Amino acid sequence: MNIILLGPPGAGKGTQATLLVDSRGMVQLSTGDMLRAAVKAGSPTGVKAKAVMDAGQLVSDEIVSGIIGEALDGLAPETGVIFDGYPRTAAQAESLDEILSTRGRTLHHVIELEVDEDALVERITGRFTCANCGEGYHDTFKQPKAEGVCDKCGSTDFKRRPDDNEETVRTRMTEYRAKTAPILPIYEARGIVSRVDGMADMADVSTAIAAVLDGK
Ligand code: AP5
Repeated sequence: MNIILLGPPGAGKGTQATLLVDSRGMVQLSTGDMLRAAVKAGSPTGVKAKAVMDAGQLVSDEIVSGIIGEALDGLAPETGVIFDGYPRTAAQAESLDEILSTRGRTLHHVIELEVDEDALVERITGRFTCANCGEGYHDTFKQPKAEGVCDKCGSTDFKRRPDDNEETVRTRMTEYRAKTAPILPIYEARGIVSRVDGMADMADVSTAIAAVLDGK
């Protein structure tokens, strides 16, 4: 099964994708994570992407569609994929159709996480991750069980994203409204869009997504 998780910054796409990886053995393809890895590695893609990401704007369609195609080529055809943060423009949606069809894959669901935009700034500015294993946390909504120690790997080293400040978050939301939300009708016309309340507790959001995937 191949699915898209769609929603504005901080809607919970990454959180829910990680839970689906654990519960269903699907693979998460997050263009944001892949771009951040490229920035960290100092690759040509990373060098091009860094300033754009730090400003909260969108990286070019060619770059992100290229990395998605390459990532899919590394997966067994039967592996289910969660597209997290991709596609984000009409051109990327068009590219994804081609990328999937040339690899004999089908898109089964587009799940839109519906959220109250006012809550997103708080969610994003409170977010941090384990610098060692990448487990995600939040100052208010998901603290490590033992203060300062990662639940998953025991590391005491945490980090915050450079684009997780209020000013950049507002630009990211504007980009979402202008370029990403308008792609929903493409998938609505195919009858594959489901809407889930992204303001619910994380566990309830997961239950609602599971119901969509299981056709309940
Ligand atoms: P990307 O990394 O994709 O960022 P984003 O879309 O802005 O999404 P986030 O990762 O901020 O949010 P999320 O929805 O995953 O929320 P999360 O689960 O972490 O992109 C970053 C940048 O890369 C872009 O700005 C752009 O420059 C570039 N880029 C990436 N893809 C691109 C593309 N396709 N085209 C062009 N450019 C691209 O949750 C947020 C916080 O809330 C967490 O702390 C979490 O614990 C908490 N939380 C989650 N769910 C809940 C809940 N139900 N209740 C309470 N708290 C919750």
